[in-house]
Amino acid sequence: MKEVIKTMKSGKKSQELLKRAQQAIPLGVNSNFRYWGDDKTLILKKGQGAYVWDQDDKKYIDYRLGFGPTVLGHAYPTVIERVKEALEIGNTFAMTNEYEISAAEKIKKLTGVDLVRFANSGTEATMHAIRIARAYTGRDKVLKFEGHYHGFQDYTLWNCQPPIPGAGYRRSPVLIPQGSGIPQVIGQLLYSVPFNDEELLEKKVKESWGDIACILMEPLMGNTASIMPKKGYLEFVRRLCDQYGIVLIMDEVKTGFRIAKGGAQEYFKVRGDLVTYAKALGNGFPIAAIAGKKEIMGEIGWQKIPHGGTYCANVVAVAAADATLDAIAGGALEKVDAHGKILAEGIENALKERGVPGIVQGPPSMPGVVFTEREEVHEYRDWADSDHDTYEDVILKLFEKGVMPDKDSREPWFVSASHTDSDADVAIGAFDEAIKEVCG
Ligand SMILES: Cc1ncc(COP(=O)(O)O)c(C=O)c1O
Repeated sequence: MKEVIKTMKSGKKSQELLKRAQQAIPLGVNSNFRYWGDDKTLILKKGQGAYVWDQDDKKYIDYRLGFGPTVLGHAYPTVIERVKEALEIGNTFAMTNEYEISAAEKIKKLTGVDLVRFANSGTEATMHAIRIARAYTGRDKVLKFEGHYHGFQDYTLWNCQPPIPGAGYRRSPVLIPQGSGIPQVIGQLLYSVPFNDEELLEKKVKESWGDIACILMEPLMGNTASIMPKKGYLEFVRRLCDQYGIVLIMDEVKTGFRIAKGGAQEYFKVRGDLVTYAKALGNGFPIAAIAGKKEIMGEIGWQKIPHGGTYCANVVAVAAADATLDAIAGGALEKVDAHGKILAEGIENALKERGVPGIVQGPPSMPGVVFTEREEVHEYRDWADSDHDTYEDVILKLFEKGVMPDKDSREPWFVSASHTDSDADVAIGAFDEAIKEVCG
């Protein structure tokens, strides 16, 4: 087996601040994904456009973008302006304000959904969408896919990154929660099948449709290296849902307002009954939405389907969304796509020229990179079988060179409208050097 290198150390200030943080915050981070070890976890100072700086003043071209949200770039001027304007009027009224009406109208226009309700995070949005689907169908079970991630709520924090081996035979996967504290009994409300396999999905639906409230899916695997749906697969899922009265929830938390103005529904030309948005919707401000067909969303209401929350549509969040949606309607994603194409091609060429087996896949705005001998990667188990240790070594080298995609190869490279051609040149050059150093 290849020796794992794991270079890169965080700077002195990051290490000192992490120690201080750990006195007040478990592991010193406020989301488990952010802890990379005591000697590697970075503490950031600021972000501007396509760049972030750590506490030791090291600058990075940012291709993490906070796991995707800042699609326009950090501290984007038109968003900051509208947020400043909104701050002047106060933030939390727990009553309707005009920004939220305007933002909801813009979501409708860009995506073609009938109705929208706001929430505060992707986790919250998927949790509410599941409840709405259950209420609408009178059924309780959720069908999800291996390697698809829908946030930290208990209903779907299963088989997101199951150990292989350990997750059983792919025709009948064992349900594995992400960790302790998730009641085993909730697993009884879940089915999990591999993505991109029509036969296994159809079998499960035919056996169990009377219990299945919703099929909840990422239209492309934005949490497993941007694995794409096979041709016709999403249409197949749509047909099954129509045939068996199942609500199709497209979880567009990563793809929404990123891969196209109308998200995955526009990109793949397949519509969900319900759709969840977050991330790019607010360019990094905490906002999410549950949206969809009037016949379902219109049933939300007092003594019918519960949805709400003190901070839902707080003024700052909806003002940020309002400005972000303007920029997206105005063509910001064209810049994102153009940059992403250059970047993805550059990475692909570097892999080819250095003879490193790998695949670059997914839309230009969020390309995923998998170090694999396979010609195609279609499901979580294909990714699990790839060389993610070497990938991590390469990314840690990139950090040293001032380029920062996430080091977990399940995360795509996220591109913003603020990245420039010269950023792409630097990133591709650094990637080329890094694979030479790590892979020889
Ligand atoms: C597809 C998808 N759904 C839901 C979530 C959860 O979103 P949040 O982190 O805002 O709770 C994520 C987060 O990465 C996601 O990628």
